[in-house]
Amino acid sequence: MNIKFVFLVQFFLFTFLAIQIESHFEFTNFICESFDKTFGEFEYCFLKSVNRTYKYISGKFKPHRLPINKLRVNFALWKRYNGYKPFMYNITFDVCSFLKNRNSNPVIKFIHDSHSNYSNINHSCPLNHDVILEKLPIEILNHRLTKVLPFPEGDYLLRMYWLIGKNRTALAEIYGTLS
Ligand SMILES: *[C@@H]1O[C@H](CO)[C@@H](O)[C@H](O)[C@H]1NC(C)=O
Ligand SMILES: *[C@@H]1O[C@H](CO)[C@@H](O)[C@H](O)[C@H]1NC(C)=O
Ligand SMILES: *[C@@H]1O[C@H](CO)[C@@H](O)[C@H](O)[C@H]1NC(C)=O
Ligand SMILES: *[C@@H]1O[C@H](CO)[C@@H](O)[C@H](O)[C@H]1NC(C)=O
Ligand SMILES: *[C@@H]1O[C@H](CO)[C@@H](O)[C@H](O)[C@H]1NC(C)=O
Repeated sequence: MNIKFVFLVQFFLFTFLAIQIESHFEFTNFICESFDKTFGEFEYCFLKSVNRTYKYISGKFKPHRLPINKLRVNFALWKRYNGYKPFMYNITFDVCSFLKNRNSNPVIKFIHDSHSNYSNINHSCPLNHDVILEKLPIEILNHRLTKVLPFPEGDYLLRMYWLIGKNRTALAEIYGTLS
């Protein structure tokens, strides 16, 4: 076999293993904001550190116009260099179409599956109730971001705009560090 090729495979394998063993994800902030109060408002969203290993984020959005049949979400991943810069993903998708066909986009599926056990939107449209994210623990994301889909180390921001037509009605931002 080609020595160079073997070396390359080893290099990637070891890098991969090193990331798997050493990486650790932490939430650093969770922010949310509603721009159109007639559409709905956040009751709360926060990050809580119970102790060194148990940290979670929770949030609750109260829609004022029910049911919700049409909602798009733009999510973009940002990574910090000198200031946050767009990084890899910038996807706008239709929430109801996705909930109907969850294999339509692997990236959104990954994000959805990462929190669906802790939210109440694991059903198809219409959404006719408050949207709740309840104690999404760091450990789940730690596992999924370092073992299922390894990411390079750094400070990240997942910024999600909720869109009605082209209007931004709400924003949720999750900050985290992979070290
Ligand atoms: C952290 O808090 C959780 C929930 O109260 C508890 O189950 C766990 O044992 C605690 N871990 C440590 C290291 O204290
Ligand atoms: C994502 O794409 C949209 C549409 O192309 C653009 O308006 C927006 O600025 C982009 N966001 C980021 C963070 O690059
Ligand atoms: C969600 O819960 C199911 C059933 O308990 C479990 O099999 C699955 O791995 C969980 N998903 C995540 C991302 O933790
Ligand atoms: C979410 O819904 C899917 C499809 O109906 C199901 O397979 C999965 O177990 C559900 N997960 C939870 C946490 O309820
Ligand atoms: C978007 O916002 C504008 C200005 O506030 C408003 O006139 C328009 O009806 C909104 N569009 C939708 C689809 O909500």
